[in-house]
Amino acid sequence: MTFTARHLLGIEPLHPVEITTVLDLAEHYVDLNRSSVKHSDVLAGLTQINMFFEASTRTQASFELAGKRLGADVMNMAMASSSLKKGETLIDTALTLNAMHPDLLVVRHPASGAVNLLAEKVNCAVLNAGDGRHEHPTQALLDALTIRRAKGRLHRLTVAICGDIAHSRVARSNLILLGKMENRVRLIGPPTLMPAGVAEFGCEVFDDMRAGLEGADVVMMLRLQRERMDGGFIPSEREYYHRFGLDAEKLGYAKPDAIVMHPGPMNRGVEIDGTIADDINRSVIQEQVEMGVAVRMAAMDLLARNLRKDR
Ligand code: NCD
Repeated sequence: MTFTARHLLGIEPLHPVEITTVLDLAEHYVDLNRSSVKHSDVLAGLTQINMFFEASTRTQASFELAGKRLGADVMNMAMASSSLKKGETLIDTALTLNAMHPDLLVVRHPASGAVNLLAEKVNCAVLNAGDGRHEHPTQALLDALTIRRAKGRLHRLTVAICGDIAHSRVARSNLILLGKMENRVRLIGPPTLMPAGVAEFGCEVFDDMRAGLEGADVVMMLRLQRERMDGGFIPSEREYYHRFGLDAEKLGYAKPDAIVMHPGPMNRGVEIDGTIADDINRSVIQEQVEMGVAVRMAAMDLLARNLRKDR
C-alpha cells in the first residue's frame, strides 16, 4: 500500500499510485457495506470530529457513517454559516478543538484555502470535505471509483464535465484527478461559467453540448452554484436548460454506453432532466453515493495508519 500523506487536503498533492491505493481499499469497504454486519474496528479508540461551516447533506452523512462503521467516536459540530467569521476565529476554533485531542478532523468551509490553513494549526489528520471553489478530494475519489467500476478502467476515457465549472470544487478536483490518471477531460458550459486559466490543466473547452459530448464515455453534470455567484452569470434557468441541460437528445451525442453522473444536490429541469437522472441504465448517481461512504472509509483508514506511525 502506498499512501504517505498526513492529510487529505486535495487531489493536487496525490501521486497516481496513492489514488489507486485509496480506490483499491475502498473496494474492500464496498463489500463490507453490502454485507449484513457493516462494522470494522480499524478506527476504534479514535475520535473523529466533523466541522461543517457550510450546509451539507450527503457529504456530512457519508463521513459520519464512514467513521461509525469503522468504530471511531464521531462528533458532528454544527457550524451555522451566520456565525461564520474568518481569520483568527477559524484558527481559534481549530486550537480549541485541538485541545480536545481529535484524531481525524473533517472540515468543509466556504473559503478556498481555509482547510489547508487549519491543517497547519492542529496535530491530527485533516480531511477536506470541500473548501470554497478549491478542492473536494473525496468527491473526486468517489467519482473515480464509480467510473472505474462502470467502465472497467480509469485511464484513456473521455470525460465531459458540464455546467458551472467556475464555481465548482468538484470540477476542479475531478479534472486534476482525471488528468493524473491520463484521461481526456472536456469542460462544457457558457463562457461566463468557465474559470480563468483553464487551459493550464490541459482540458478542452466547449460552449456547445453537441460538440463537447461527442464520443464521451462519461457525462458529469454540475449544479449552478448560485451561492457563489455575485451577479448575472446566466440569462435564465429556462434558457440555460435549453442550451446546457442534459436531456435524452443531448445525451445522444455521447457514446451509446456513456454513463451519467451528478455529485448532488440536483436541480431537475435546470442542469438535468429528471428522467435521465433516474434512468438506471445510464445514471450512476445512486452508485456515487454508495461509493462515497466506501471511499471515505478508505481515506480515513489510510490516514489513521499514518497517524499511528507518526506517534
Ligand atoms: C457538491 C459540493 O458541495 O461541492 N456537493 C457534494 O459534495 N455532494 C456539489 C454542489 O454543492 O453542487
